[in-house]
Amino acid sequence: MEIYLKDITNIGDYLSLNVSKIKKDFPILKRKINGNKFIYLDSASTSQKPIQVINSIKNFYEKNNSNVHRSIYKTSEESTKMFELTRFKIKKFLDAEDYEIIFTKNCTEAINLVVNGWVKKNIPKGKILSSVMEHHSNIVPWFSLKNPIKFLDVNNYGELNFNIDNNIKMVSLTHVSNVLGTINNVKEISEKCYENGSYFMLDGAQSTPHMKISLKKINCDFFTFSGHKMLSPTGVGVLAVKKELTEKMNPILFGSDMIKEVNLENFTVADSPYKFEAGTPNIESVIGLSSAIDYLEKIGMRNIEKHTKKITKYAFEQLQKIKNIKIYGPKKRIGLISFNLKNIHSHDVASIINEYGIAIRSGHHCAQPLMKRFNVSSMSRASFYLYNDEYDVDSLINSLNKVYGVFKL
Ligand code: ALA
Repeated sequence: MEIYLKDITNIGDYLSLNVSKIKKDFPILKRKINGNKFIYLDSASTSQKPIQVINSIKNFYEKNNSNVHRSIYKTSEESTKMFELTRFKIKKFLDAEDYEIIFTKNCTEAINLVVNGWVKKNIPKGKILSSVMEHHSNIVPWFSLKNPIKFLDVNNYGELNFNIDNNIKMVSLTHVSNVLGTINNVKEISEKCYENGSYFMLDGAQSTPHMKISLKKINCDFFTFSGHKMLSPTGVGVLAVKKELTEKMNPILFGSDMIKEVNLENFTVADSPYKFEAGTPNIESVIGLSSAIDYLEKIGMRNIEKHTKKITKYAFEQLQKIKNIKIYGPKKRIGLISFNLKNIHSHDVASIINEYGIAIRSGHHCAQPLMKRFNVSSMSRASFYLYNDEYDVDSLINSLNKVYGVFKL
């Protein structure tokens, strides 16, 4: 345990992370890119995976692999148990006793399930509210309802001033912006929603990897996240939904695991959560997610949150020193910083610093309405996680300082 946490630097309730030890768990970070140390600063897009997670999948295939929920032989029972224990583990991880945990392919599929399985049936037209800071996955599924949506704006610092009128009955917002790093005040938003008689869906794709989530404290109706942004493999996401709402939620995918009985005229659906999980699930990814949660919890979500905030703050201070840089979003943020260098396209920035082994994301970040809000077509974005340290930030800064030179600016 201590090897991951430096016990001598206890700052308040924070044990600082032993990042050099953590880095060693991530085999990909040993790579060289163009002869340089690989510096990965794109975890908001997808995180890297520790050896513990990689091995859990290998072990599963070598020892337990069988389909879940349908056979009574030994390995199938083991697979089913491992799969269902993960569901239980997620419930504890999210402090979500009153919620049903539904496995989906990713966060996008979880949002689609709420929109088309629940909102379509239960919310009348013209009563949905979202914001301009959402990524496309929390905008486009809503358009499939052919139902007008109101979008709240952000101020020039990228902060949301949440307000709601009596007409609104469904609110869907991100917890943390994938472009601005803004942390929305979800407790206050939740209170306003319930005072207004509105349902509330929270997209936790960018918060769950970094923060201790307590759905008991936040109190939303639906909560979503993607495993691959928090050390697990791709292919598994989660929808946590308040238990009492599952009865009125329809499945959006049909076949296999979601069926109770079928004849040639009709079928009946299984109980929740299985009625929402059609087909053979992505078992290996669920096993990987289980191991990812073990890894995160061993280090401690509160320690991870403090660490990510500290590195983000350090990066913010260092980036500000670069000439003609524009940084988007508020000072108080977590996990990521989007910016532009004057007169240089973000793809050029990303491609030049790639020469030095540094991976950042560039482009519209699946958030074109937000790009429009800030009058740009693209941004560069550096995002951080528990395996990033000051050395990684300094490497980013050194490489960015060389970019103007390439353009002779
Ligand atoms: N929403 C993901 C990102 O920000 C894909 O990169």
